[in-house]
Amino acid sequence: MEFALPEELLAMQRTVRAFAQSEIAPVAAELDRDPRFPWPTLRRMGELGLFGLTTPEEHGGAGLGSLASAVTLEEVAAADASHATIMSVTSGLPQTLLVQAGSREQRERWLPRLASGSWIGAFCLSEAHAGSDAAALRTRARKVPGGFELDGSKAWITGGGEAHLYIVLASSDPAAGARGISAFVVELGQEGMSFGAPEAKLGQHAAVTTSVTFEGCFVGDDQRLGAEGQGFVMAMSSLDGARIGIAAQSVGIARAAFDAALAYADERQAFGVSVREFQGVSFPLADMATRLEAARLLTLRAAWLRDRGYRVTKEASMAKLYASETAAFVTDAALQVFGAYGYSRDYPLERYYRDARVTRIYEGTSEIQRVVIGRQLYRELERGSRGPVLADE
Ligand code: CAA
Repeated sequence: MEFALPEELLAMQRTVRAFAQSEIAPVAAELDRDPRFPWPTLRRMGELGLFGLTTPEEHGGAGLGSLASAVTLEEVAAADASHATIMSVTSGLPQTLLVQAGSREQRERWLPRLASGSWIGAFCLSEAHAGSDAAALRTRARKVPGGFELDGSKAWITGGGEAHLYIVLASSDPAAGARGISAFVVELGQEGMSFGAPEAKLGQHAAVTTSVTFEGCFVGDDQRLGAEGQGFVMAMSSLDGARIGIAAQSVGIARAAFDAALAYADERQAFGVSVREFQGVSFPLADMATRLEAARLLTLRAAWLRDRGYRVTKEASMAKLYASETAAFVTDAALQVFGAYGYSRDYPLERYYRDARVTRIYEGTSEIQRVVIGRQLYRELERGSRGPVLADE
């Protein structure tokens, strides 16, 4: 058993950490106060290749795996959660789906732009009345000569109005339920597509979120991704990988809060000594460090298994569930170490606390992760064997 990251990945981790700390962290507080999509830093991330890590080299990516993606996402999230969300969404869902289900023409048309970061991607699954129950979506894809017409409204879309490419899940056969859902690629500016105002959110302000509405929006047959009726299964399977990304992001936010609390405990004096001397401080620090390590191990293991071709539905959900709950625990406990300063906008603790909250909601709530894990446990029981199986078994 080998717990150390390979040397190339350690080098990449150092590079991304240095970049994120010197170029992203300094703008995070200002973007939180005055929210806008952070194009200048996103462009720099594109230059570093951070948007195409898992996309094959022939399509302009780095051809690396989930492990590289998780390690780098942690670094970006430790500097700013909003940047990590945009990175995770644009590389994790649209590019994975294009790689897995796109025709050669579709891959050649869209992947190089997304992998280089010159285009940002968005993923349109959720609707106002269909969040956890994603298969209940009501956006319709009506067959017309040469393609489909999309009608409906998507909710909570990261990068709405900013992203250039939208993967849209819509039903062409409502009677078939989940099996009637297909995936389409829509480009920014297509007729019949419009955006709501940016949502006023608790945290992650720079990862702008809007609704996206389609009214008679025509998409050609060449914009359908994968076979008709396969969209939901494709979305679920790519969410397995994307949830590892949210787990890594949660670890990054928690790490930033923990590092700040540890440094503060060392320097803050009370009752004539450094507060690190009090068990009221050292015990929470011990708990934070332990949970953080456990969350990282679950995350990297899920990524490692995925890179070896295993189906990681359960492992990705476990990592996402545990890491996001850890981010909540650590950001809360770290804020407490800072006392009143933690509650002040002059310090980043309250931002970490707010930014972490949504990791228990998006890409499947904690409750949905438990549903997924529970179902997989029963599957294993029926199969008569525990542990991950290869995806093609
Ligand atoms: N991999 C492959 N196939 C899968 C799968 C997976 N992980 N999960 C389900 N499927 C397949 C099933 O096998 C089934 O296929 P068959 O028709 O062949 O049997 C089909 O998909 C339907 O699956 P279910 O019967 O399990 O579907 P369900 O309606 O019971 O829903 C659910 C399952 C797990 C609750 C699902 O609805 C879910 O994950 N909900 C949460 C949605 C979510 O995560 N949304 C995130 C939005 S994206 C986002 O947040 C991005 C952002 O901007 C930050």
